[in-house]
Amino acid sequence: MSADRPIAVVTHPILEPGPTILAEACEVRSLPDQAKHSAEALRKAAEGAQGMVTQLMDPVDEELLSTPGLKVVANVAVGFDNIDVVAATRHGVMVCNTPGILDDTTADFAFALLMAAGRRLGEADRFTRSGAFNGWAIDMLLGHDIAQSTLGLVGFGRIGRGVARRARGFGMRVLYSDEMPATPEAEREMGVTRADLDRLLSESDFVSIHVPLTATTRHLISTAQFALMKPTAVLINTSRGPVVDEAALAEALRTGKIFAAGLDVYEEEPKVNPALLKLENVILAPHIASASVRTRSQMSEMAARNLVTGVRGGRPPNILNPEVFNQPRG
Ligand code: DGY
Repeated sequence: MSADRPIAVVTHPILEPGPTILAEACEVRSLPDQAKHSAEALRKAAEGAQGMVTQLMDPVDEELLSTPGLKVVANVAVGFDNIDVVAATRHGVMVCNTPGILDDTTADFAFALLMAAGRRLGEADRFTRSGAFNGWAIDMLLGHDIAQSTLGLVGFGRIGRGVARRARGFGMRVLYSDEMPATPEAEREMGVTRADLDRLLSESDFVSIHVPLTATTRHLISTAQFALMKPTAVLINTSRGPVVDEAALAEALRTGKIFAAGLDVYEEEPKVNPALLKLENVILAPHIASASVRTRSQMSEMAARNLVTGVRGGRPPNILNPEVFNQPRG
């Protein structure tokens, strides 16, 4: 490394203009392009680096965060459950995410899953390709209406609100559950009503999950919650896999406790529970809710700018633990 160029480790490829922004300010060390790196490989890669651009499949643990000289970890995701932020703060390492820019793209995708699962689009595609379509039939692949139905949003942050706005266009009644109530003005503007989780689950035709993964939200939706849902209900998850108990979901889908599901995220990515793979009434996507060309490029840019600002000693725009500036390095 040249004396004054900080080292930035990039754990997985990112999109332009991210690499250009990083290369202008740092010496970039890219890890081999593979789906997942072990915690040990990441710790080793961090040695000597001032910054790391990480992704949601990278476990960023306390040992890594205690690497001498490491200043900033810039995650290319809005979620940051892969990073031990408490430990980062203890060690004076800034942690950043990419909020705001992926809300519409993710809300679009949640809505796409909702429509696809409710109207059995995955099954319909497989049916047609298999040659089974022998003519129109009154009872062929009957699904459930989206228009005029009730949508329950579990979590009412930026993405949940984006889904609520889309639902309005379909004339849906929208319930939401969240520890933080929206303001009365926001509720009015979006036409939504707050409900506790049990009521939301029992009244909704579509339930879409938009909470981060925390100790409290792990398996938030499990057997007891499926028991509350309508047999015609559809569950959508674009947040994090472990929020839903996958074994309980597979059982609920198999036994008709609920009608269908649309999933973009899984408990142990990239593994998909084999019980889900056997079912016709679940649409399975490979964690692509934010995968539009524009959004992924903006996420890459935001993460690169967060890193460069941090390694230069500034306060990155999307820092999650600003308290690092008020404490001595651990
Ligand atoms: C995130 O940003 O947390 C998504 O899961 C990937 O875009």
